[in-house]
Parts: sequence; structure tokens; C-alpha cells
Amino acid sequence: KERRLVLAIESSCDETSVAVVEDGNKILSNIVASQVLSHQRFGGVVPEVASRHHVEQIISCLDEALVEAKVTVEELSAVAVTEGPGLVGALLIGLSAAKAFAFANGLPLIPVNHMAGHIYAARFVEEMQFPLMALLVSGGHTELVYMPADGEFEIIGETRDDAAGEAYDKVGRVLGLKYPSGKEIDEMAHIGQDVYHFPRAMIKEDHYDFSFSGLKSSFINRVHNAEQKGEELSKVDLAASFQASVVEVLVNKTVRACQNFEVKQLIVAGGVAANQGLRNAMTETMQQQLPDVKVIFPPLKLCGDNAAMIGSAAFAAISKEQTADMYLNATPSLIL
Ligand code: KG4
Ligand code: ZN
Repeated sequence: KERRLVLAIESSCDETSVAVVEDGNKILSNIVASQVLSHQRFGGVVPEVASRHHVEQIISCLDEALVEAKVTVEELSAVAVTEGPGLVGALLIGLSAAKAFAFANGLPLIPVNHMAGHIYAARFVEEMQFPLMALLVSGGHTELVYMPADGEFEIIGETRDDAAGEAYDKVGRVLGLKYPSGKEIDEMAHIGQDVYHFPRAMIKEDHYDFSFSGLKSSFINRVHNAEQKGEELSKVDLAASFQASVVEVLVNKTVRACQNFEVKQLIVAGGVAANQGLRNAMTETMQQQLPDVKVIFPPLKLCGDNAAMIGSAAFAAISKEQTADMYLNATPSLIL
């Protein structure tokens, strides 16, 4: 059987990425040009700066992806591109490149939802089995997604305020850490202990929504109170206490969702899925409570934004011929 190669492009936030993916589950190349250093001094992603970097990087990423994959344009079956959600200016760069490349080479164009991409990163580890549950945790999203079948998504719960990654980054700023601070807080948390015991928002409530802004406020208040009193707080204990709260809520709600929806697999995806504390607690609790449900974490380097995951998510769409024409536009708040 002939192999199907997809050229995928991702530019929704602060990484420019182009990949070549074979049959939805094999990475031939996955070039990621990160802009993180350019945004660090602003303490967050500056949309205008992001767009300009994407313009500078996209063509060389595309060339490199083809060279590294050792494939010719003639061998490609389709071009996949992130249409949203994300920053509109950033998305438009990837979209324009994808449309031009697809048009020039007579290839079908497949629009992909960035969040679906995060979920499908799991396919590089193991074939997906339905029904499944996905916990999507990134800088902009915190969602529990039920997938009854390939390409079908039902959001059963989501954050009512801040995303989990956003909470990490905001708390990191209070601790004087560089943006994005999730990884560093994770490392500090492993040294510290949960001595400050912050609230676990809505943990007992009978729905699958999350809230992290109260936790963020408690954290900030605790630090400010200590400053006023001249009390010395342990940064690693603060990190550990914050992480314990986030992880406990995420694990609790996710396990309950898996139980109630009787799924075969659980996929934990998105930038925060790189979190070691979350990985350990989720694996352990699932093992204890639902040993028959397979828990899948994408490899660490595929948890953050990358084009390989977009190529994988596109694969289901190729079979269903869900292609777009040259009028395809960016949709900044696209939902699953
Ligand atoms: O998926 P992603 O790369 O970009 C978005 O689509 O948002 O996620 C980035 C987010 C950032 O908020 C970052 O702080 C967080 O993922 N993150 C982590 C870890 N690594 C990255 N959060 C907690 N623990 C980590 N190890
Ligand atoms: Zn993302």
C-alpha cells in the first residue's frame, strides 16, 4: 500500500513549525523554530512580534522539513494547516504559506484545529481507541474532551477563567521567574512541599468545569501578606503547594470523567501535559482506580506546539475528504 505523506504547518502562537508526517503516525521531520526568547522580556507573547517572526521563519522551516524528511513535493498527498484557535496575525502567516504551497503544487488543503492537533500527538505513541477522553491543558486552554469516534469531539468541561498553563505563567511572574514558567515551577515543586495548602476549586462539584483564577489570587495574597509582615516564604514550597492544587483538581475531575464515560483510553495533551507532577499523579491514580483504561502522554517534545501533531490530526480528515478551498481564513477562537 502506498504511503500517504502530509506536509503540515503550525503558526498559531510563538512557534513556527513545519513537519512531514507519514500515515498519521510517523514523523519524517518536525522543524520547530521557537520565538520564546524574543517574547521573554515582555513577560508574554506579543502578537505583532510573533507575526513578524513567523514571516521570517516560515520558508526556511518549510525547506528544512522537506530536506530532513527526504521527500520530494511530488510524493506529498496533502498540505495541512492550523486554522485556529490562536493569534490571528500568527495564524495568517501559516495559512498563507500553506495555501500558496498547496495551490502551486496542486495539493489538497486540510484545515486543522490546533487543539485537535494536541490530542492527536498521542498517535505517535499509540493507535487511538474510541471512545476516549482527552484532557487538554495548555497556555490558552483547559478542557476535558470526549471523543466517541475518530474526528468527533465533545467538550464536556472547561475552565471558567484562567487556563492551567496561564495560571502557571502568572504565578511564575510573582515568583520572579522567566516566561513561560511552567517547567521551572514543576522542577521547584519537586524540591518543595505542599505546606501552604491552597484551595482546590470546584473539586467536589458534580460537573467537569475548572477554575484557576481563585488559586492564582490565593497565591498572590499569600505572597503579599508575607511581604507586608516581613515573613520569609519558601519559593519551592510555594511552587509545590500551587502545583499540588492544580494537579489534584485536574486528576480528580479527569478520572471521574473517564469513569462516567466508560472510555478505553485517556490522552493527556498540551503544553502542561509535560508536567512531571501531573504525569505521575495521573498515571498512579488511573492505575489504582481504572486499571483497564490506557493512559497516553505524548512524548515531552510533542506536548508543546509543533506541526507533526497537525499532520497527524489531518489524517482523519484526508480519508473523509474534509478539504478547504483557497478562501480558507484564520479563525482565532475556533472551537473543537
Ligand atoms: O501547548 P502550549 O505549548 O502552547 C499553547 O497552545 O498554549 O502550552 C504552553 C503552556 C505554557 O503556559 C507553559 O508554562 C506550560 O504550557 N508548560 C508547563 C510545563 N511545560 C510547559 N506547565 C506546567 N509544567 C510544565 N512542565
Ligand atoms: Zn498549543
